[in-house]
Amino acid sequence: MSRNTKGVLACLEEARGGFVSPDELCRKTHVSARQLSEELTRLRRRGHAIEVDPTFGYRLMRSTADFDVDQLRQRVGGQCIGREIIALSSTTSTNDVAFQLAQTNRPEGVVVFAETQSAGRGRLGRAWVSPCGKGLWFSVLLRPRTPPARLTVAAAVALTRVTAPHARIKWPNDIVARDRKLAGILTETRSEAVVLGIGLNVYADAPWPPQAISLEEVTGERCERTELAARLLMELDECYRQAGSAFDELIEEWATRCDTLGKQVELQIGGRRLVGMAYALDENGALIVRRDNGHTERVYGADATLVHG
Ligand code: BTN
Repeated sequence: MSRNTKGVLACLEEARGGFVSPDELCRKTHVSARQLSEELTRLRRRGHAIEVDPTFGYRLMRSTADFDVDQLRQRVGGQCIGREIIALSSTTSTNDVAFQLAQTNRPEGVVVFAETQSAGRGRLGRAWVSPCGKGLWFSVLLRPRTPPARLTVAAAVALTRVTAPHARIKWPNDIVARDRKLAGILTETRSEAVVLGIGLNVYADAPWPPQAISLEEVTGERCERTELAARLLMELDECYRQAGSAFDELIEEWATRCDTLGKQVELQIGGRRLVGMAYALDENGALIVRRDNGHTERVYGADATLVHG
């Protein structure tokens, strides 16, 4: 480890879990802002979990027992999704952190996990409950050439592969088991960056809302989050690639795992209601709905909610 890297690490360790501002880190270790950012990247690559807060700066984190970020990095090393993994104890929303990282020109594939979120969000401004250490709450920064709705499809397939045979896809972004929500996907876009936010409820002993369910309840087994996260990142990586190069195959798989297709659905699209048969997904990831009068409409999950179906 170089003298600068050691210096930055020592400075963070001295703060004993507290935040250190970038200015202080630069001053104490005699490095420039640019060098500091390089040193922090080096430290993260070596397995140090360093939390970044836009107001307070940086702090060194410890992983909780069943979520070992070092092990996770080793498991997914070499693939695009997970090329850099940041593990935070707490943040507002991992989607926000991923967008902040996007502004620093980070490459796609960076993943941000948090043990808990104080302002976790779902689609259409809904809150997302993220009890500490009880689920996987994370966001992936992507810079895709494909339409963002394809990424929601990719994430849904990856989530159902990992939780198979227990869970099904409910268009557009729900993963459900026993009619309750096991996981959710929030795909957000700002300029060319797309952030794929995923929440998966893992352990049963948490104050879940009545409409939610955990993987432990569904499988009857208490799985280990590091292993689960590794499998999920690997499937996501593969599905992301398929979303770009073989989306028709991904659609086929999605269809076998989805409970919405072939059903009569009622959708709320802004102030408008649309009733019809959920017919297929198109090449952009939009749902094709066939109305009773034979006309079809293409609906993006970003705009619509499934009211019944
Ligand atoms: C939904 O079902 O409406 C989407 C829920 C998405 C929740 C995840 S948890 C990690 C990421 N950060 C957030 O604030 N939301 C997503």
